[in-house]
Amino acid sequence: MNRLALSLGCIIAAAAVAMADGQTETVEDTYRLYCVQCHGTAGTGQGINQTAGGLAVSARDHTNSVEMSKLTDEEIRRAIAKGGDAVQKSELMPPWEGVLSAKEIGDLVALTRKLCKCVAAK
Ligand code: HEC
Repeated sequence: MNRLALSLGCIIAAAAVAMADGQTETVEDTYRLYCVQCHGTAGTGQGINQTAGGLAVSARDHTNSVEMSKLTDEEIRRAIAKGGDAVQKSELMPPWEGVLSAKEIGDLVALTRKLCKCVAAK
């Protein structure tokens, strides 16, 4: 019993360290980790997958304020969480809800608004 308590303690300590680490991660880190390979480091849709081979459908240029302002925040959230398929866009845009938390996805929506310097469609 003591041994079980001890190993449970270790697991909880390890989880606490992982969480503390996760909290220092910024939304820019998340974008760099999961999005730049298609959307590019500047968010212009010129990631390595585009420039090296070409995606059949180009990744969205998040800095295009004209196009981005046609989307509501909910549409962007849905595209990130459920993938392109869920918003009648290319399935080349993967779904992220199993990988990223709701908060991380919310922060990414805000980041795309920062990149486009635009406001959400009503
Ligand atoms: C494997 C390549 C790939 C990765 C990785 C990727 N995307 Fe995309 N994304 C795309 C493509 C391709 C489209 C364009 C789909 C279309 O226009 O049909 C797209 C579109 C989008 C859109 C616009 C959806 C709309 O309704 O127009 C948003 C927002 C977006 N991506 C956010 C992200 C975020 C945030 C990440 C990182 C968590 C990410 N993407 C990672 C390929 C990717």
